[in-house]
Formats: sequence, C-alpha cells, structure tokens
Amino acid sequence: MRPLIAGNWKMNTLRADGSALVAGLVEQRSRKDPGCDILVCPPFISLGLIEDIISGSPILLGAQDCHKEEFGAYTGGISAAMLSDAGCGFVILGHSERRAQNYETDLLVSQKVSAAHANDLVSIVCVGETLIDRDAGSTLSVVEEQLLGSVPKNANAKNTIIAYEPVWAIGTGKTPTTMQITEVHDHLRVLLENHFAEGGGFRILYGGSMNSSNAGEILSVKNVNGGLVGGASLTVKDFWAICTSF
Ligand code: PGA
Repeated sequence: MRPLIAGNWKMNTLRADGSALVAGLVEQRSRKDPGCDILVCPPFISLGLIEDIISGSPILLGAQDCHKEEFGAYTGGISAAMLSDAGCGFVILGHSERRAQNYETDLLVSQKVSAAHANDLVSIVCVGETLIDRDAGSTLSVVEEQLLGSVPKNANAKNTIIAYEPVWAIGTGKTPTTMQITEVHDHLRVLLENHFAEGGGFRILYGGSMNSSNAGEILSVKNVNGGLVGGASLTVKDFWAICTSF
C-alpha cells in the first residue's frame, strides 16, 4: 500500500508562514514523487488559503478535528460537512491532545468519525498510551480499548487510517524503540483484521517525535504505513526529508 506522511500543524502558523510552508512543499513535490501520499493539516482558519495554494498539486488537505453534529447551535464548532465543503479530504480525530485537553472520550471520537465518513472525509484516528500505561505494562490493552471504542464497526480501509502515537513521545524528542513500535503496530493490525472489513488494508501511521533523522528507521518497520508528524512538519526542509526517507 502507498504510505502516507501527514503533517499535523496543530495551533501553529499565521497566514504568511502557512502559505510559505505549503508553497515550498508544492514546489518540491512538482520536482519529485517520493512514493508516498503527502497530507497537510493546517488550523481551520487557514484551510481556504492553503487549499488555494495546493490546488492542482497532489498535496492533500485535512483538518485537525470536527464536530460530531452537522449543523446547529454549537458556538465555535466546525462540522465535517464544512470541512468537506472547504476542500478537505481528511480529518485527524481523537488526537491525545484533544482527548486530554478537551475531555474527548472514545464514544465522542467514534461519533466524530461517523460524521466524517458521512461527509466523505477519511478519518485519521489516533490511539496511544501514556507513560504511566506503558510502565504498568498496559500499552496493548490501552490502544486496543481506544481502537475498538473510537472506530465505528462499519469503518473500512478506504475511509479510515489509524495513527499510533504514544503520548509520552509527542513533542518530547523521545521515541519508542523499533521493537516497541513493531509490537504495537502488529497488535493493531491483528485487531483490524479481526474486527473490520479489509483490516489488512488499513494504513497504520506512527506519530510522536518523528524527524528527518529517525524517520527512515521507523518507516521501515513492518506495519508502519506512514507517519503523523507534528513539530517536524513545520519546515519544508524537515518535512520533505521525512517524505523522502522511505
Ligand atoms: P510531534 O507531534 O511530531 O511534534 O511529536 C506528533 C503529533 O502529535 O501528531
């Protein structure tokens, strides 16, 4: 399967930074196909601007969250229908920052995933253990509970991507060993095969302090089908180096 490298810009970039960043990626991509799909997920307010710059290029556009409802009295909310209408094809859901900072439960994440699918968006569903979970030996059971609770039963390989992001690796410069990554990704693959149609075809991304130095090794792990990149997605040089490190 063709891997995916996704940039999660989080709450970073003003208009000028975001434009320059994505214009640089469009330029690099016009010279070379690195053999993976490339997705950028800017803040909501920049989606229109970024969509104009990537239009006509193979760079893909996604958002970082959506509301579970389509329309209504939800002040500050952005729905999946709006994201689709704005040109997004993807949405990150259940990121650990949203689970922790916005008290998102597996149930809420699964409702958002269903809303995304109903509006033709591919959902990127994040799972991952905290350091306390890992030290307690519960990594596999934690990611299993999150996966089965956050991904609706009728999800398939076309509309859903899984991202394994250990919470303790996000933004810390720490990464799991390739053995630890292998163990979790293999477990997720078995769960997908046992619980979902075409489970073997789901892309499973790794995320958490991926950078231009460690990407080659991480991306060579079996059942790692790409990356979800935060900090290193904010410069053309670093992000492009990850895209070309397969
Ligand atoms: P990081 O973030 O690459 O900055 O660790 C990854 C993520 O949170 O998606």
